[in-house]
Amino acid sequence: MRLAEWADAFESAGSRLNEGAPLAELRDCVLANGNEGQAAAWLARLDRLRELGSIEFPLVENGEELAVIAPQQESFVPSLAPRAPDAAFGFHRFACLRRDGAAWLAESPLSGARFRMADPAVLDKPLVRRALAASGFLEDCRAEESEPQTPAHWEFHDLIFHTHSRRGWHHDPSGPQCPYIGLVEPEPVRRPEWPGTVVELPRADESAAETCSTILERRRSDRDFDDKEPISIAELGGLLDRAARSRSSVSGYVHDASGKTAAFEGAKRPYPSSGAVHELEIYPVVHRCNGLDPGLYHYDSWRHVLVRIPASEDEVARLLRHARIAVGARENPQIVLAVAARFSRVFWKYKSIGYGNILRNTGALYQTLYLAATELGLAGCAVGSADAMLFARITGLDPLVEGSVGDFAIGSRRSG
Ligand SMILES: Cc1cc2nc3c(=O)[nH]c(=O)nc-3n(C[C@H](O)[C@H](O)[C@H](O)COP(=O)(O)O)c2cc1C
Repeated sequence: MRLAEWADAFESAGSRLNEGAPLAELRDCVLANGNEGQAAAWLARLDRLRELGSIEFPLVENGEELAVIAPQQESFVPSLAPRAPDAAFGFHRFACLRRDGAAWLAESPLSGARFRMADPAVLDKPLVRRALAASGFLEDCRAEESEPQTPAHWEFHDLIFHTHSRRGWHHDPSGPQCPYIGLVEPEPVRRPEWPGTVVELPRADESAAETCSTILERRRSDRDFDDKEPISIAELGGLLDRAARSRSSVSGYVHDASGKTAAFEGAKRPYPSSGAVHELEIYPVVHRCNGLDPGLYHYDSWRHVLVRIPASEDEVARLLRHARIAVGARENPQIVLAVAARFSRVFWKYKSIGYGNILRNTGALYQTLYLAATELGLAGCAVGSADAMLFARITGLDPLVEGSVGDFAIGSRRSG
């Protein structure tokens, strides 16, 4: 926004604004220094800045700044409850307090504003409690669970995640902000190879002359595996080739808000990935497969090979059993494709929407696996709930570096 044209006329108002002067004083200040038209325009700009969340509101008592109200949504207008709520009023079940650098932040996705403070003890001060109450942070903790103001099905972490992974709920930087340019190198697009025995995988045959719409219409979740004639290594190779191989790398440049630029390599695979980041890795956990020993493997999508990873048989059996229970099958799935994300690939580039993108990319991979499995005559089913720490134990991977985000059960189809 261009404010320069008013800078001379309203220099004192501008500096009083930075000092946190009340609105009435700013209004008097601009009226004393310019004509009415200029004053109205200045105040309109001020209101637009407020809507954009660029104006914060200090809560000051006896000259001491207790907290700062930082609006997060355009509709938010700060106000004070007529009186401080009594002690029965506490934080709403979606409100939380967390550290942010040297400051503390009180946040609630239902509020439209955050409170920033140096010392969380000020949350008990009457003035701050009046502002918290007016901003929707407090609720009567004695109240029966009668009429919840928020739909009861929202859980704390779901609402926090949802409101942080979409714009409009907050003013944090969002999107490809690339905050680590010049500080940390991005992880390479090719995951470092696992050491271990390499198993060559066959490629997919020529595709059948079936139209995409026919395959889409035939696609379904199939949990009925034919253990008399299990999936073969050729079918597994065909599935991974069709759905998940790396076709090529893509070189490009990214920049941060200050204009710093860095090279960032993406990839092309059959399924889409936000920003071509392609952070997902597939770890086939094999129970029964003709031509392949049971156990844990990594699918190297660049070389189209499997690499055997030594793993505890008991833990592998547990992972397969969990998948069987999740899909409600009679027998363990013949193969579970455990999907892991190399988180820093995504977080190096994206702020705020990174984890949401990982889950979206996992969904894109699921559908591509479903369609390829349908075309190849295999039975397949996404697995919604899996034990991420079990995966971490089996692979020895740090769950915050490369962690489990999904699973897909696959095998030969019993029904024709
Ligand atoms: C993200 C996701 C998770 C799923 N998790 C499971 C699961 O844990 N167990 C299961 O039996 N089916 C699971 N499914 C399959 C759905 O139950 C199935 O897609 C749905 O019933 C519709 O049937 P259809 O796929 O045959 O069209 C999942 C599907 C998706 C997309």
